[in-house]
Amino acid sequence: MSSKNHSIFLLSLFILSTAFFQSSAVKKSYIVYLGSHEHGEGVTEADFDQVTKTHHEFLQSYVGSHEKAKEAMIYSYTKNINGFAAFLEEKEAADIAEHPNVVSVLLNRGRKLHTTHSWEFMSLEHNGVAPSHSLLTKARYGEDVIIGNLDTGVWPESPSFRDEGIGPIPSRWKGTCQSDHTGFRCNRKLIGARYFNKGYAAYAAGSMVLQNGTLDTARDNEGHGSHTLSTIGGNFVSGVNVFGLGNGTAKGGSPKARVAAYKVCWPAIDHNGCFDADIMAAFDMAIHDGVDVLSLSLGGDASDYFDDGLSIAAFHAVKEGITVLCSAGNSGPTPGTVSNVAPWILTVAASTIDRDFDASVQLHNGQHFRGDSLSIALPENKLYPLITAAEARLAEAPVENATLCMNGTIDPEKARGRILVCLRGISARVEKSFVALEAEAVGMILCNDQSNGNELIADPHFLPATQITYADGVALFAYINSTKNPLGYIHPPTTKLNIKPAPSMAAFSSRGPNPITPEILKPDVTAPGVNIIAAYSGAISPTELDFDKRRVPFITMSGTSMSCPHVAGVVGLLKTLHPNWSPSAIKSAIMTTARTRDNTHKPILDDTNVKATPFAYGSGHIRPNRAMDPGLVYELNINDYLNFLCFLGYNQAQITMFSGTPYHCEDINILDFNYPTITIPKLYGSVTLSRKLKNVGPPGTYTASLRVPVGLSISVQPKKLKFDKIGEEKSFSLTIEVTRSGMATVFGGLTWSDGTHYVRSPIAVGGVKG
Ligand SMILES: *[C@@H]1O[C@H](CO)[C@@H](O)[C@H](O)[C@H]1NC(C)=O
Ligand SMILES: *[C@@H]1O[C@H](CO)[C@@H](O)[C@H](O)[C@H]1NC(C)=O
Ligand SMILES: *[C@@H]1O[C@H](CO)[C@@H](O)[C@H](O)[C@H]1NC(C)=O
Ligand SMILES: *[C@@H]1O[C@H](CO)[C@@H](O)[C@H](O)[C@H]1NC(C)=O
Ligand SMILES: *[C@@H]1O[C@H](CO)[C@@H](O)[C@H](O)[C@H]1NC(C)=O
Repeated sequence: MSSKNHSIFLLSLFILSTAFFQSSAVKKSYIVYLGSHEHGEGVTEADFDQVTKTHHEFLQSYVGSHEKAKEAMIYSYTKNINGFAAFLEEKEAADIAEHPNVVSVLLNRGRKLHTTHSWEFMSLEHNGVAPSHSLLTKARYGEDVIIGNLDTGVWPESPSFRDEGIGPIPSRWKGTCQSDHTGFRCNRKLIGARYFNKGYAAYAAGSMVLQNGTLDTARDNEGHGSHTLSTIGGNFVSGVNVFGLGNGTAKGGSPKARVAAYKVCWPAIDHNGCFDADIMAAFDMAIHDGVDVLSLSLGGDASDYFDDGLSIAAFHAVKEGITVLCSAGNSGPTPGTVSNVAPWILTVAASTIDRDFDASVQLHNGQHFRGDSLSIALPENKLYPLITAAEARLAEAPVENATLCMNGTIDPEKARGRILVCLRGISARVEKSFVALEAEAVGMILCNDQSNGNELIADPHFLPATQITYADGVALFAYINSTKNPLGYIHPPTTKLNIKPAPSMAAFSSRGPNPITPEILKPDVTAPGVNIIAAYSGAISPTELDFDKRRVPFITMSGTSMSCPHVAGVVGLLKTLHPNWSPSAIKSAIMTTARTRDNTHKPILDDTNVKATPFAYGSGHIRPNRAMDPGLVYELNINDYLNFLCFLGYNQAQITMFSGTPYHCEDINILDFNYPTITIPKLYGSVTLSRKLKNVGPPGTYTASLRVPVGLSISVQPKKLKFDKIGEEKSFSLTIEVTRSGMATVFGGLTWSDGTHYVRSPIAVGGVKG
């Protein structure tokens, strides 16, 4: 390159970046949401192009010229969702929001990811259930169902996505497999893969991440999307283990389902990697492609329904009969942190399973602590000296930082040859074991802080290490403090099954009450989300740290990100078994058959060993084999959702655009909204509400039974409901009265049973005043 060319290049770069700077200072990416399309049958690409043209024309009237409109446009949503994403000035966005055809204008918001034996734990197979009675066998392993996952993409070469034993691709499938520079290929199992990066790019504009081709692929370079997708519908892979632990056959909930990856999550910027403009584009495409189920293990803070691209898009999917599942979030145990709370979404919390990668701690004084790890064993079977990280700190390091074993705080002179005791928090758990390794410690014990309570996560640590509970950590510190020569040993990890009690709620799992509509209980259910083994990406190490050069085809991960795909897999089976059930019927079946007791037949515990509440687990832990035959369901149709939105104050015009057809709001009381759970955020005196049940089982007479908490009286009318045929609907009313005032939220339950089926709804009543 000549020097002249070079300077021209520099000059143009300068001009470009100045221009960019000027515009980026005022323009942001927005989504202009215009409601629904009413494309009939036989819609063509030309019709979609026509929609895009109208979007350009619409935008042109605000930004001046056709050229400017085209330049500003990021996405045009043409299939089910009507709207577009564009770079706009704040004033333009505000003006557009005033237009009568606009439902809402939302900022292109970022969201984050909510980062095999579990099936047996749910009795989907073995565990006392005859194969002929298992949902898995009855639903033919979910063959025929198509499940999409909006995530970080997929590692297509993973053995979980091999297509052995899988028939031809269903002819109704309209999706494609986007090619890339890495040789990405689909097959009869992984039938589709697409990527959506323009919303991310719009947000990241100018950042280095855009300068290379890593954004033009559906390949999963992070591991998260492969993990979730294989949990949903991965094929059988035998002999799967993680560093020799948890050996068994890995498989998804619907092992013969067809799966499709919609990559909407990219390397995080400001903690967020998944943007609404991309999420909406992926939904619009997935609905068109022909998925039956959509699973999303991501989310942000809950927001108003029309300001929330995910909730809007999910509505369009549900309208087309697609069940949409989302993770509840990993912001627990703080109350009111649950996200993805729209009533048309199935929102999933996370809890433990009965498997442990047990690496217990033994002290010289005979004390023994349970621990979890995926690490290697200590070099010798003997007691090693213990040292707290505070004692082992470098002179200049603050005690608080050293206690957490943060990088650059530990003195090798002190830690060498000892087991270093670190506190959980701030820095990544595996990073602490790297710090211990660098400081030449022989091992590490990671103690939970108070907020993590009993939640133990098995990590692939860099040296012999384990994690213990908060209470045990306190005892360990006390022991070290009480003796001159503290000694201990970390047992090498072994896989232990039948751990009791299980499930218990994960501390991280986001909790209710619902911050947007407190009358709707959220989360809806809980499912396995701690130490789950599933497929991984070949592009990243098990610790996700750059300097870790290890690569593994399967790994454990924890999060509501892991629990959501478990339920999505089960939905795939239900969809295969009952192709005509609506999304709300499937959801009701899963919710009303969930259990609230653990494997010791006691109430499911929270992370702090107290009884968990429906604000942690919703209706309870899913029970797939019961969900296939719930007896009765609480159904909700599109009009019910529209009336729900009317009740919340959205006007007739907005609702009409949202639904795509003229709609007249019906006056409803939100307490009568036919949700499978009953929540009254604040009760003064008494209230009567109603529900409607639909028979999806054999004829029968159902009798109501109530669990009434102290402080309330509850009655149901009528007490018996007789169903003569499938599809028959019957209503009942529930009167709840405060008998003792001044109480916090109390929880009860209502169960309808014909002696075979048990249709259970939790009742939550808050702010009780007489
Ligand atoms: C592209 O970007 C990714 C992510 O920032 C980085 O890991 C990779 O090394 C880059 N590749 C090239 C060829 O620059
Ligand atoms: C895992 O199980 C398979 C089949 O039972 C067995 O062949 C294999 O050796 C086991 N691997 C490990 C690491 O235990
Ligand atoms: C201590 O940790 C905090 C983060 O918790 C960090 O901001 C600070 O820089 C650290 N101090 C030192 C001296 O490393
Ligand atoms: C720790 O700090 C050192 C020196 O500041 C740096 O080179 C290294 O990458 C850091 N390690 C981690 C795990 O962050
Ligand atoms: C250690 O013991 C001393 C005196 O017995 C006490 O003041 C201190 O709080 C103890 N520290 C820990 C971490 O238990």
